[in-house]
Amino acid sequence: MNDNKRTAWCITGSGHYLKESIDLMIKLKNVDLFLSKAGEEVLKWYNYDLKDFRSKGIKIFKDNTASGAPVSLLYEGVYKLVIISPATSNTVAQMAYGLSAGLVTNMFAQAGKCRVKSIVFACDTEPTVITQAPKKSVTLYPREIELDNYEKLKKFKDVDVVDSIDKLKNSIELSL
Ligand SMILES: Cc1cc2nc3c(=O)[nH]c(=O)nc-3n(C[C@H](O)[C@H](O)[C@H](O)COP(=O)(O)O)c2cc1C
Repeated sequence: MNDNKRTAWCITGSGHYLKESIDLMIKLKNVDLFLSKAGEEVLKWYNYDLKDFRSKGIKIFKDNTASGAPVSLLYEGVYKLVIISPATSNTVAQMAYGLSAGLVTNMFAQAGKCRVKSIVFACDTEPTVITQAPKKSVTLYPREIELDNYEKLKKFKDVDVVDSIDKLKNSIELSL
């Protein structure tokens, strides 16, 4: 694997496993951060400041173009891996149905077309999920549609869909 190639880490609007995802992301070298619009908002809810990522040398791409302009970096061969963690049920649904509706879903779709591997850490993978709201823990009951979309995404080629931080860590180690 070419060591100059970078990792694109995408954060969507999920509080679930947000902290764990960020803790992993900041340990990686050569990583750029891609945010969905909701991802950018939710980071604020959980008291993250983008300046702190930038001070660690992480370049940030926000979802502010209709074409998902930063995907051109995939065409230029900049990235060897795209990680979407955490992935909201909305993003999982869009990805599972091939939609490119924002920056993160565009990154996922274009990574697939460029045969760049993706890892997705989906939020809603079990009938009961205990999640971290900004001020307290909450129990949620993902619907059949969320669980179906998760299963559908698992069948994609060049995509590793994981359901725990340990599996995410393992998948990243195997991919880099
Ligand atoms: C504080 C907060 C936490 C949220 N956490 C989750 C979550 O854990 N999982 C989820 O699927 N949606 C969560 N949402 C809702 C998403 O942000 C919302 O569905 C958004 O439209 C997703 O957009 P995106 O998939 O483009 O990031 C949360 C919203 C807020 C305000």
